[in-house]
Amino acid sequence: RHHVLSLADFTAAEYDTVLQTAASFQEVLSRRTKKVPTLQGHVVANLFFEPSTRTRSSFELAAKRLSADILNFAAATSSMTKGETILDTAKTYLAMGTDIMVIRHKEAGVPNAIAAEMDRLGVRVSVLNAGDGQHEHPSQALLDLFTICTLIDPAHPRLELLKGKKIAIVGDILHSRVARSNIWSLTASGAQVHLAAPPTLLPKLFAQYIFEESEGAQDLTKVQKSENTNQEFIISSSPSSPSSPSSPTSHSQNRQLFLHWHLEPALQDADFVMTLRLQKERMTAHLLPSLREYHHMFGITRTKLQLCKPNVKVLHPGPVNRGVEISSELMDDPEFSLIQSQVTSGVAVRMALLYLLGSGKTSAIQN
Ligand code: CP
Repeated sequence: RHHVLSLADFTAAEYDTVLQTAASFQEVLSRRTKKVPTLQGHVVANLFFEPSTRTRSSFELAAKRLSADILNFAAATSSMTKGETILDTAKTYLAMGTDIMVIRHKEAGVPNAIAAEMDRLGVRVSVLNAGDGQHEHPSQALLDLFTICTLIDPAHPRLELLKGKKIAIVGDILHSRVARSNIWSLTASGAQVHLAAPPTLLPKLFAQYIFEESEGAQDLTKVQKSENTNQEFIISSSPSSPSSPSSPTSHSQNRQLFLHWHLEPALQDADFVMTLRLQKERMTAHLLPSLREYHHMFGITRTKLQLCKPNVKVLHPGPVNRGVEISSELMDDPEFSLIQSQVTSGVAVRMALLYLLGSGKTSAIQN
């Protein structure tokens, strides 16, 4: 692999490689100098066609900590305002000797298109998806995974630590590339992933199962082949209990995803709660719920966390609508909130990705 565009086909070995490499860089970041010469002479281009605070800055800092040279691009101040295309922009950065392109775009598939063009040209440039439309945000899901795993075992973060854990992903799943990437990584770990959202904020396919429940279907266990891979998801809206899901044991190798249109069953005995931003900028008026009603039904508060395990932790990829998807006091409560840790983890995880792609040690991330 020399691109990271999606987590759909990541293997357990690849997750562990990223987690262990990030743990090494976390140690480097705890030193006084915080810097290694690993990518000296390499050029990393941050091509951000859509706004970002934490992803862009942490890729920049990660590249600097690895001693790479970093080029920052923002569409609004670029020659795209004069009509230059996305591919011509990428080729311009290629001509300057870029080794790794970090790409964010509001349309799904742009990083894949640029990667395909680089491959067609036969150049050894790596493309890292930094969030494309409603598709995926792999580095965010990897830093979420790292944040959770290092909480359990700081010295040896690894995928298997999440086996059997209950993780609730709550909120605007429909528009969330973060949710999509997290569904791939967390279900790969053997965690029980529970999605909770109003039906209007679930992808149509997921919403269909919930509507079936409302029509009185008894057995909602479904097996759905992913279009991109041969992996199967067990999709069920009503696990018999958090520790014994209604999936047949013959499917124990498969990924398990549970759907809820109410918050409570998703929170019940959860180990981790990942709340998502209501992406108002991607919503047409008929999708946008009343913010007060939304907070009442799906907003995460200290009171609602009483349903979870006593040491539950809360994640949010940011940016946050305070008082909408999470109460302001919970967001700032270090007893429960991992939000600042997620941002901190982002630097080490992005160092790991840049290092693994840029050092030429691609065997570390399997083909
Ligand atoms: N989580 C995330 O992608 O945040 P930014 O949009 O600030 O990069």
